[in-house]
Amino acid sequence: MSSKPSPVKEGASFSVGIGLTNACNLACAHCYREVDGIDNLSLDDIETLCESLPVRAINLGTGENALHPQFKQIIRYLKDRDLKLTITSNGYSISQLSDEEVRYFHDVEFSLDFPTEREQDCFRGDGNWRLIEDQMERCRRLGASVTVTAVMMSGVETVRLSPRGEVQPCVYWPGKKLTLGDLRQLGAAITQSEPFAQTRVLPEFCRGCEFVETCAGGCPGRRLLRGRLDKPDEYCPFTRGEVIKLDHRMAPSTDLPKGASACTTIVSALKKNGNQRRKEPAQ
Ligand SMILES: C[S@@+](CC[C@H](N)C(=O)[O-])C[C@H]1O[C@@H](n2cnc3c(N)ncnc32)[C@H](O)[C@@H]1O
Ligand code: SF4
Ligand code: SF4
Repeated sequence: MSSKPSPVKEGASFSVGIGLTNACNLACAHCYREVDGIDNLSLDDIETLCESLPVRAINLGTGENALHPQFKQIIRYLKDRDLKLTITSNGYSISQLSDEEVRYFHDVEFSLDFPTEREQDCFRGDGNWRLIEDQMERCRRLGASVTVTAVMMSGVETVRLSPRGEVQPCVYWPGKKLTLGDLRQLGAAITQSEPFAQTRVLPEFCRGCEFVETCAGGCPGRRLLRGRLDKPDEYCPFTRGEVIKLDHRMAPSTDLPKGASACTTIVSALKKNGNQRRKEPAQ
């Protein structure tokens, strides 16, 4: 392969995505979570992770975390560590938190996929729009930062811990998977292992691109899945010679704990004061 992975920055601290459980109260058609059985990480697993890596931020995702039997103990443990804790939810997990527990979170993210109640409920389930609306309102009343997420892939380095205890660069990673045992042994050097190095392969075509800093060749998982890791993301319009201009306005920069690792783009957010505004992409 001609393209070489770029090096990992010295002294990097990690923003880690964790799925405490793949259990969920909903069954969205697009969801990547495993549905052939329930897997739960233990509090011990979370401690292993936090002791093996310099963790700066943790986002809880994958299923609905409140369905994990030790959810409250685990968030209490994470809250007591010096890291920024965020959660992505369909609204259910937030509804299970006390007001004090909501405040453990630096940011609460809700998945709102459609602009209307009818479409959202049709896709996610009856009452989901209303639940999100109520829980968003509650978070804002409690002074918790709230965001709404939508999805877009790009080549950023992430560490994910699945409910099965697999350590991967991304939840869709099609290549080799490592374990918590590998993480305990390697620590931060896990980013030098094959799957993580593969995510940093920069296609030759992308080297002169003006967006290479944020895009880094697009989604490496998709490129690997298609057997073309050393070629740009197939969805890149520039590979087809197209020039696309989007009319957009960047919001002022905000501290987003997931910002360094998320391949999820935040398209809108409700700030504490209730103003609706757009945020920068979190890539
Ligand atoms: C897996 S869910 C877990 C948290 C919570 N249950 C929720 O829906 O927000 C996290 C986010 O991933 C998104 N997601 C799930 N499956 C996906 C897929 N196959 N491709 C892109 N995004 C996906 C969901 O829409 C959601 O915004
Ligand atoms: S609510 Fe979240 S975890 Fe549950 S099925 Fe939908 S996308 Fe997946
Ligand atoms: S050429 Fe396309 S895939 Fe490559 S960095 Fe630029 S925008 Fe991303």
